[in-house]
Amino acid sequence: MTEHSAISPKPIPTLPDAQTVTSVTHYTDHLFAFRCTRPRSLRFRSGEFVMIGLLGENGKPLLRAYSIASPSWDEELEFYSIKVPDGPLTSRLQHIQPGDPIILRPKPVGTLVLDALLPGRRLWMLATGTGIAPFASLLRDPETWEKFDQVIVMHTCREVAELPYGRDLIEALPHDPLIGEFVGDKLLYYPTTTREQSAQMGRVTDNLSSGKVFADLGIPPLDPVVDRAMVCGSLAFNLDIKKILEEAGLHEGANSAPAQYVVEKAFVD
Ligand code: A2P
Repeated sequence: MTEHSAISPKPIPTLPDAQTVTSVTHYTDHLFAFRCTRPRSLRFRSGEFVMIGLLGENGKPLLRAYSIASPSWDEELEFYSIKVPDGPLTSRLQHIQPGDPIILRPKPVGTLVLDALLPGRRLWMLATGTGIAPFASLLRDPETWEKFDQVIVMHTCREVAELPYGRDLIEALPHDPLIGEFVGDKLLYYPTTTREQSAQMGRVTDNLSSGKVFADLGIPPLDPVVDRAMVCGSLAFNLDIKKILEEAGLHEGANSAPAQYVVEKAFVD
């Protein structure tokens, strides 16, 4: 064995559709984000998801749907995830380190895309927990800012420590070299918590139904002619929000039949 081969990096196990983790950021005991290499062939629309995962104990891929949190022009891919102690995938995924391989199927899909919305003036991004991930992609897409005069982000988490991933991203937008100049004063951000005191409290649903968000931001109520919405959260959240949007006269769109709002379920392990 030559000296060169003795110091070469440890061999990476051969995985189907392998990509390499490039960075990992832990936000709380149960939230983390990571970046990985991007397959050269992967093209996606902001808001779409892909299947990612690790090799299971049985040698078979253990995959889950994850919204891509990075914009479509980024050289790498970014994901934002919960850590579930006994979750089949996230109990292991939370321990990944830069240099580790992950599996990424390069077939993006999803309904949370601008193409599934009719033209409008205001775009609402309504998220709970890690449901902010697809909006991290959409907010950095120039098309979002070209298509809408105003973008309102409502993000609700249980605790204050769960907000920084979204807040940091939003605070960085005006300084973004690609989209900063488009953002201007178009962006309204309404983060809330439900189980810990913070500047703004309450569920997205309650703040819409009571009219509090409109009063706080000084904007008119929902109007199906003007408003479009993109929704991403837990199943219960998505169902409750749909009811509110339908009552306001907005209807669900799809790629084949664009309308006033679209919905995606946030990843749950
Ligand atoms: P709450 O603390 O009142 O349950 P979770 O971690 O359970 O997914 O919740 C994330 C955030 O979403 C929490 O702030 C939670 O509020 C809120 N939430 C959960 N279910 C709903 C729902 N059906 N409608 C509106 N908000 C919800």
